[in-house]
Amino acid sequence: MTANCPAANLVIDAPIKTNKDRGTRVVYRGRYYGRPVIVKAYSHPFKRRIDWFLCHYHGRVLRRRGVPAPDIHYSGYAPSLKRYVIIYEHLAGDGDFYWIRTEPERSRRLVGYMKLVRLLAVMHGKGIAQKDTTPGNFLESDGTIYALDEDRMDVRPWPRGKRASLDNLASLITQFPPEARDDTDRIGEVYMKERGWDMDDRWRQYLARRIDKFRAWRSNKRGFYYTGYRGALVMAAIGLAFIGLWLLV
Ligand SMILES: Nc1ncnc2c1ncn2[C@@H]1O[C@H](COP(=O)(O)OP(=O)(O)OP(=O)(O)O)[C@@H](O)[C@H]1O
Ligand SMILES: [Mg+2]
Repeated sequence: MTANCPAANLVIDAPIKTNKDRGTRVVYRGRYYGRPVIVKAYSHPFKRRIDWFLCHYHGRVLRRRGVPAPDIHYSGYAPSLKRYVIIYEHLAGDGDFYWIRTEPERSRRLVGYMKLVRLLAVMHGKGIAQKDTTPGNFLESDGTIYALDEDRMDVRPWPRGKRASLDNLASLITQFPPEARDDTDRIGEVYMKERGWDMDDRWRQYLARRIDKFRAWRSNKRGFYYTGYRGALVMAAIGLAFIGLWLLV
């Protein structure tokens, strides 16, 4: 049975990324039917199957809707690794966008930001947000910008609205070097133009506020999403309602 599994033709070369801290997944370089591939193997002790399934499902939607992404050669169980895996085409070329954090020339960094922002706008227009906005989740190959890492994508049947879109954009901007804060207006305008929207003062201020919030949240390192006082009030109201119900019955 193992020999009949397509994943039996997978040869693992070396891990390129081990998510050791959380023990959730390992990314390998390998070969599949002799072709160079990237293999993502899920290894969480309890939820590896659901993690794999979400990535698999988001990946299918992403490709069906025409967002540039590496081909998936196989998705399923790999007996050799004893893991659920996704085998991707290895995109050769310029690599992921972590370089924008170290590139010494500001004008080049700005070009990099704009490329990511345009792809994010295309994704939002197709109903997909990338909650994990690290520049390593976008990659350039042969002049095309690809979306990687479907794990934490958020997929909806309709295009994302302005508020949700700018939230996601703000999260991406906080992953850029701090100087990008000075270019927020330009970045926002490029984004809005790509979506066919006009940027006015209200949305300009909204984007700036969201960036400050994400930045405060990231430097807080509290490990949970900072919802602000309104979120805290809603949570408290839900808690009180539960206690009330419990006392009643
Ligand atoms: N198809 C691909 N072709 C070339 N490189 C890739 C491909 N897929 C992933 N990579 C490289 O592997 C890195 C990690 O991939 P990915 O983001 O999918 O894994 P991850 O475990 O979720 O990582 P992270 O926690 O950093 O988001 C990417 O930043 C990219 O450099
Ligand atoms: Mg990633």
